[in-house]
Amino acid sequence: MEDEPNKKKLLILYASETGNAMDAAERLGREADRRCCPVSVLCIDDFEPKSLPFEETVIYVVSTTGQGDVPDSMKGFWRFLLQRSLSKEWLKGVDYGVFGLGDSSYQKYNFVAKKLDKRLLDLGARPLIERGLGDDQHPSGYEGALDPWMSKLWKILYNKAPNLFPNDPNTATLNGTWVDQPKIQITYHDVGKGNSQCSAAIDFKSLEMLIERTRSMSPGKSSGKMRPDCFLNLTENCPLTRPGSGKDVWHLEFEAVSSSIHYDVGDVLEVLPSQDPVAVDAFMKRCNLNPEAYITVQPSKKENSMGDTNHAPDIPVKLKTFVELTMDIASASPRRYFFEIMSNFASAQHEKERLQYFASPEGRDDLYQYNQKERRTVLEVLEDFPSVQMPLEWLVQLIPPLKTRAFSISSSNSAHPNQVHLTVSVVSWTTPYKRTRKGLCSTWLAGLDPQQRVLIPAWFHKGSLPSPSPSVPLILIGPGTGCAPFRGFVEERALQSKSGPTAPVLFFFGCRNEENDFLYRDFWLSHLQSGGVLSEDKGGGFYVAFSRDQPQKVYVQHKMREQSTKIWNLLAGGAAVYIAGSANKMPSDVLAALEEIISLEGGVTKEVAARWIHALEKSGKYHVEAWS
Ligand SMILES: Cc1cc2nc3c(=O)[nH]c(=O)nc-3n(C[C@H](O)[C@H](O)[C@H](O)COP(=O)(O)OP(=O)(O)OC[C@H]3O[C@@H](n4cnc5c(N)ncnc54)[C@H](O)[C@@H]3O)c2cc1C
Ligand SMILES: Cc1cc2nc3c(=O)[nH]c(=O)nc-3n(C[C@H](O)[C@H](O)[C@H](O)COP(=O)(O)O)c2cc1C
Repeated sequence: MEDEPNKKKLLILYASETGNAMDAAERLGREADRRCCPVSVLCIDDFEPKSLPFEETVIYVVSTTGQGDVPDSMKGFWRFLLQRSLSKEWLKGVDYGVFGLGDSSYQKYNFVAKKLDKRLLDLGARPLIERGLGDDQHPSGYEGALDPWMSKLWKILYNKAPNLFPNDPNTATLNGTWVDQPKIQITYHDVGKGNSQCSAAIDFKSLEMLIERTRSMSPGKSSGKMRPDCFLNLTENCPLTRPGSGKDVWHLEFEAVSSSIHYDVGDVLEVLPSQDPVAVDAFMKRCNLNPEAYITVQPSKKENSMGDTNHAPDIPVKLKTFVELTMDIASASPRRYFFEIMSNFASAQHEKERLQYFASPEGRDDLYQYNQKERRTVLEVLEDFPSVQMPLEWLVQLIPPLKTRAFSISSSNSAHPNQVHLTVSVVSWTTPYKRTRKGLCSTWLAGLDPQQRVLIPAWFHKGSLPSPSPSVPLILIGPGTGCAPFRGFVEERALQSKSGPTAPVLFFFGCRNEENDFLYRDFWLSHLQSGGVLSEDKGGGFYVAFSRDQPQKVYVQHKMREQSTKIWNLLAGGAAVYIAGSANKMPSDVLAALEEIISLEGGVTKEVAARWIHALEKSGKYHVEAWS
């Protein structure tokens, strides 16, 4: 996949937030390579958009994030493409294809792929192939749509540009002699005992740097900042739900121990979870890895042919530390390519055949059932295929990267200097084969003992909920753990109200039962009392939908409809709407309820009401933070 300037080639540009679009683009690139088609695969922000008109064929693989937003890596490219000065013929002569990755449970399904497709068309580019849309909800995930889209693409490309394909593209993949090479190389280092840079870090700064340099070496590193903003210690944890309620939600309080912290209400905390040491040891043993070895990881010579000569030499890290901090061995499921490469290293014939089947288009659905549906971990897969011994290069390249996890901050920094609070729901589910699976980070956090004083690497981020000014009336909707950011909002406004006038706040909360999972009940009720931020006398309100306390289901949108006039009056007075919580149906149900309220109270049609909300969004007064 080397870049060969001035030569006809296929250009694949990807924009990814969590790695799927990058995987899909790399797969396209490998398939092109196997067909001997010259190809370049680039992250979209590594490509100069001004040179787009000079390309002949560009395939875009883009995911949608946030609420219909472009991934961070695409922001600059997208801004460039939206410039009014670009003419309708700017991309005349450029053929393109778009494959989108999204999730149809989101309101703005594959929004980025759709708007990119439209914009390219507006700029005169010519679509080679109908837009492909990968959907997380498909039984085989995004690959369900990618496989047929790719087969179609090769046929179209072969007809259009046969000179790109020295061989027939439909048979090239059947060529069993193809063996991929890893994209990274690993160097082992003989580290003397006295080398202080490589020995165990002892102070916070060295620990932060160790995390930074280890995670920077990972081929699956995200685009974010590698060095943690701080280390946190857990100071308090208490359950917010009753056992047997079907939910397991915890209130967690942390203090910053390495440096002081600053955040706004509505911000998000990213936490790097710790992996189970037993699993790490089992993995090292299974793969015959020496935990005490010191390594550095670099792109292979071929991958680095672009000449990254300015790259400072990496400082070696202990192999075990590298595994602990960067490779998700006992939580995430490996990708399909992992099975394909494993098959090359299986010494038992029956294992090789099974792995080859899994990696083939025919085996895709069975692989999905075995792997993704069962949330099979890397360690489990390796144990299921004991004859496979994979070189470390492949393990490092293909094992899913250990990702940080996002949680909405549920405290106000002004109310709790140097502290940060989270409201964490412990992720747990049963697979079709009745295996209990647990979320890595939420299980780890909820199980921590404050006495252990474990250091938790953390990063602070702006989310989708900007901190509101005290003079803006607020309509907050946050069922379940969606209440987390609004606990911070209410704390902050309570503090602000001590020093000056503040605008009213309406808060709509939802849970299953009053008895079992009414999160922060006493907190909300205390602010509902006379003079409180949510009190009637301050023009506020607090409304709870207990979905299962009566025969018919009651949700936040039902409670909103009951308060139709109040909501309308606040909206007319310049209120901002904030929604947080489950990405599934909640944001669209809430939106529909708001449209109804505006239509009813304002005496306008639903279409006018929808435009009203659109205008609210444009003016920065409609915000959604939703997660699945
Ligand atoms: C901006 C933002 C703010 C957030 N705020 C909060 C918050 O305040 N509180 C909170 O609790 N969470 C919040 N989340 C969600 C939280 O980040 C995720 O739940 C996170 O994955 C938990 O990490 P974990 O390691 O425990 O679970 P992971 O190990 O990451 O496992 C989660 C994954 O497990 C799988 N999974 C989960 N349930 C099922 C199921 N029933 N069937 C099949 N697969 C399943 C899914 O693939 C899911 O992505 C937020 C997310 C974002 C993006
Ligand atoms: C925080 C978050 C927000 C998302 N928002 C949307 C969305 O608005 N529309 C959509 O179609 N898919 C959405 N998705 C689904 C992703 O697009 C999908 O999981 C995709 O495979 C991710 O690809 P990536 O890893 O390349 O970013 C969202 C996923 C996450 C985690």
